[in-house]
Amino acid sequence: MKATAIANSNIALTKYWGKRDSRLFLPMNSSISMTLDKLFTKTTVEFSEKYSIDEFWLDGKRFDSGEEFIEVKRFLDLLRKKFDSKLNARIFSKNNFPTAAGLASSASGFAALALAGATALGKNLSAKELSIIARQGSGSACRSCDGGFVEWLKGKKADGSDSYAKQIALPEHWKDFRMIATIVSTAAKKIKSRTGMAQTVSNCPLYNGWIESIELDNIGMRKGILEKNFSTVGKIAEHNCLKMHATMISTKPPMVYWQPATISIIHEIFSMRKEGIEAYFTIDAGPQVKVLCLEKNCKKIEKRLNEIGGVKETHACKAGGKPKLETKHLF
Ligand code: PMV
Repeated sequence: MKATAIANSNIALTKYWGKRDSRLFLPMNSSISMTLDKLFTKTTVEFSEKYSIDEFWLDGKRFDSGEEFIEVKRFLDLLRKKFDSKLNARIFSKNNFPTAAGLASSASGFAALALAGATALGKNLSAKELSIIARQGSGSACRSCDGGFVEWLKGKKADGSDSYAKQIALPEHWKDFRMIATIVSTAAKKIKSRTGMAQTVSNCPLYNGWIESIELDNIGMRKGILEKNFSTVGKIAEHNCLKMHATMISTKPPMVYWQPATISIIHEIFSMRKEGIEAYFTIDAGPQVKVLCLEKNCKKIEKRLNEIGGVKETHACKAGGKPKLETKHLF
């Protein structure tokens, strides 16, 4: 059977950085994200006897070896094992934004693959079940299995059955909240999150401080979202991101994901705040800056961002919905 799914990417407001189990993708800490309405992956999967090997195309390019292919094949093996299939698959996947550059393409990618793959094998899963599967493709993918504002509960169990994504609020809950994804470079990042976080856990002297402070950030973030308190959400998100980057920078070898334009944007946000325009930033394992603001200031802020040297594109996003199935296939 063939199935096609669309899943939106998500950006963490409190970050996941470090695993307690790298085989099952179990995190050291819980994290909270917003699903983005404008950035998505569309994926078609077909399991069939007509395929003698697994085939994978991403953005029009065939991958039949290398890291991307290995990751996808590993995920297909997981689906086959779980849903008792021996069939090979063909996958066509398309992102409507740059891949592997810090805009969470692996999150939307594995969420779309999990939904299309499970459906193609005849399964109808709950958001929780889907998130447990997607998590094993890329940790942050579990948060793309629901819409609005989502928490990935770290869980305690060794088998990962309590490490899944849970919605905090629907997309409609906070209609005037915006996240402006600002693209400063479309090059794929040099150090993948997976490698980077493992190095951080293994040798960063600041990592304990990160772990000790994150639960308070999560408590404040949950409350801030539910009360729609923009200042609380923005302040916690920005501080949380800077703490994560402090651990990245102080790891051996160091990970400095920021580019000059990244820093220019940070300073512009500080200037805007001084002028009374409330905006905050968050940055993942890449140079792109995601700017948090309210709808009333969004146009003004987007204009200011586009005037900064090095800024290539901006995408003002609202909270997006959960993954969905499509009837129009990619092949
Ligand atoms: O799930 P991964 O391997 O794409 O890692 C995501 C890591 C960060 O984007 C830096 C943080 C997060 O919580 O999304």
